[in-house]
Amino acid sequence: MAFLCRSAASLLKSSRAAPAVVRAARGYSAGGPYEYILVEKRGEKSDVGFIQLNRPKALNALCDGLMRELGEALDAFEADGEVGAIVLTGSEKAFAAGADIKEMQNRTFQECYGGNFLAHWNRVSTVKKPVIAAVNGFALGGGCELAMMCDIIYAGEKAQFGQPEILLGTIPGAGGTQRLTRAVGKSLAMEMVLTGDRINAQNAKQSAFELTLAEGNRLEKRLFHATFATDDRKEGMTAFVEKRKASFQDN
Ligand code: CAA
Repeated sequence: MAFLCRSAASLLKSSRAAPAVVRAARGYSAGGPYEYILVEKRGEKSDVGFIQLNRPKALNALCDGLMRELGEALDAFEADGEVGAIVLTGSEKAFAAGADIKEMQNRTFQECYGGNFLAHWNRVSTVKKPVIAAVNGFALGGGCELAMMCDIIYAGEKAQFGQPEILLGTIPGAGGTQRLTRAVGKSLAMEMVLTGDRINAQNAKQSAFELTLAEGNRLEKRLFHATFATDDRKEGMTAFVEKRKASFQDN
């Protein structure tokens, strides 16, 4: 997952080839009909699956019904040979303000544990086609986690990412502690999870780049170490020391 701090507008606006888009949208049956999301195919070739979270009064809080519909739409786009990539977005004000607190409020431990609450949310991260999150406004709690499940995040200027679960007396439950650490680094992730503070797109991007470099360096170091288990590494260095041409055996 990568944070790209760039206007999400290009992903959000409809293609100029409006008639084709409208035809594609009308003729398209990506599951549906849907109550909480808008679904259509966009692009001149109708090859972009477009899903917009559409619960404006609740700032796109991720209720069970919405997440079920999202799963159905993703299944439909995954099965659609015409679709090459999927865009997931919300509104200018909110990508999603988290799991639906009102739905969760009276859940018991037994219900959550026994029913493996939130397990089905994982569908976004198992889609084989690239999924791009176009984020503006609040991406909080489950909303931040949902964005991080996508392969790429395009963040608009008003985007705010946060894991404020601690302020509700709980912790992230849909991968936030794990993906945020990888996305922005342990230090900032710990700070966000322990305080509930939000970061904007610029912070997310800067931190993401730091981690990408750090991760890359760690991986590189391990691969470097692994070369010391090969005969060719020994031969190459020995040949240098003995001032002769190396004779590599691909071992
Ligand atoms: N669940 C349910 N309803 C929510 C919601 C949520 N996560 N977030 C916002 N809403 C509702 C509000 O209750 C309100 O509804 P009513 O008009 O019926 O009262 C409506 O959306 C508008 O919200 P506000 O009036 O609060 O709007 P605001 O602009 O003043 O504040 C906000 C916006 C800062 C995002 C604030 O709504 C907020 O803090 N929301 C909760 C964010 C949160 O804690 N998210 C984490 C949820 S837990 C989770 O996600 C667990 C997990 O890991 C999966």
